[in-house]
Amino acid sequence: MAPKILSSSMLLVFVTFLYMVVVSGQFSKFSKLDLPPEALGPESAAFRGLIITEGPFTTIRDGRILKWQGANVGFVDFAYTTPTRTKQFCDGTTDPEKGPICGRPLALSFRLTTGLLYIADAFHGLLVVGPNGGLATQLAGGFKFAAGLDVDLLTGNVYFIDASLTYDIRNTTQPGFKPDSTGRFLRYNPFTRQVSVLLSGLAGGGGPAVSKDGTFVLVPELTGRRISKYWLVGPKANRAEILLNTVGNPNKIKRAERIGEFWVAVSVGSQPPAALITPKGLRISSNGDVLQTVSFATQFFNKTISLVQEHDGKLYVGSRGTSFIGVYSN
Ligand SMILES: *[C@@H]1O[C@H](CO)[C@@H](O)[C@H](O)[C@H]1NC(C)=O
Ligand SMILES: *[C@@H]1O[C@H](CO)[C@@H](O)[C@H](O)[C@H]1NC(C)=O
Repeated sequence: MAPKILSSSMLLVFVTFLYMVVVSGQFSKFSKLDLPPEALGPESAAFRGLIITEGPFTTIRDGRILKWQGANVGFVDFAYTTPTRTKQFCDGTTDPEKGPICGRPLALSFRLTTGLLYIADAFHGLLVVGPNGGLATQLAGGFKFAAGLDVDLLTGNVYFIDASLTYDIRNTTQPGFKPDSTGRFLRYNPFTRQVSVLLSGLAGGGGPAVSKDGTFVLVPELTGRRISKYWLVGPKANRAEILLNTVGNPNKIKRAERIGEFWVAVSVGSQPPAALITPKGLRISSNGDVLQTVSFATQFFNKTISLVQEHDGKLYVGSRGTSFIGVYSN
């Protein structure tokens, strides 16, 4: 019996390997979308539109939301999150203490049907901006550390994460920082304008992702190193189950192009800090199976990554520590 089991499992490994190489590719070609001079830390990469798409749009450390206008033009200013932001005081800054004044957007999600861009800003909570950009409007505030969000394509509900009740984004780089388990997973209903707390006691933030069919949301815990599945419908509705423990710290989760699959940006050795950080993209199924792992360690050496966004068969990789978005293709 044993040899037969062995050979069929070996066959499975081989078929899985073939599938990864032939069907999915290894994303071995690399190019960059460079930020403007002095700009740093693109942590998101959202695209607008369905058939003809624009972007990526990204958030950077000095508080701007930028839009990629193609290789000849590069990135241009698109939106910002606070009326106190001036270009003289804020452009190019990496001073965390300026965040409340300049804004610190961390995550973007378009509602495709309306063209509205929803924004999670670490200091200013949940905001929205229209198709022409400019100053965003706050929808919900009073959060300590809004870290990630995703719009439900069908209902328009916005799911977002407040990473902690006690620490904000500035504290995470201060000496002696200790993460806690006071993060929350929330929902903003655009019709009632109410915010509901769906889960509390989360260990760290990250970006949630709603499934394409709107039946569940994947919720990462950055410092807790795991991903939960929160059911929106069915017998398990309004409950969460742990889907996957990750080897490193999962930041944003994004829907992959193949239905039912997701990409997770994982930084191994980030929290607690290790001597070397290894950034990886994990493609997972809705059952929590890891289908593919891509290492970005060559181009993002010893850097944390925030996002892996699949678009047109390419992976757009965002990091707080780079002056570019990395683009991996086959
Ligand atoms: C977080 O950082 C801010 C600004 O530097 C500081 O005022 C606050 O006391 C810090 N909070 C904690 C919990 O360390
Ligand atoms: C990685 O970065 C950390 C902190 O920035 C540093 O202490 C460490 O020496 C780096 N490791 C390598 C191998 O460069």
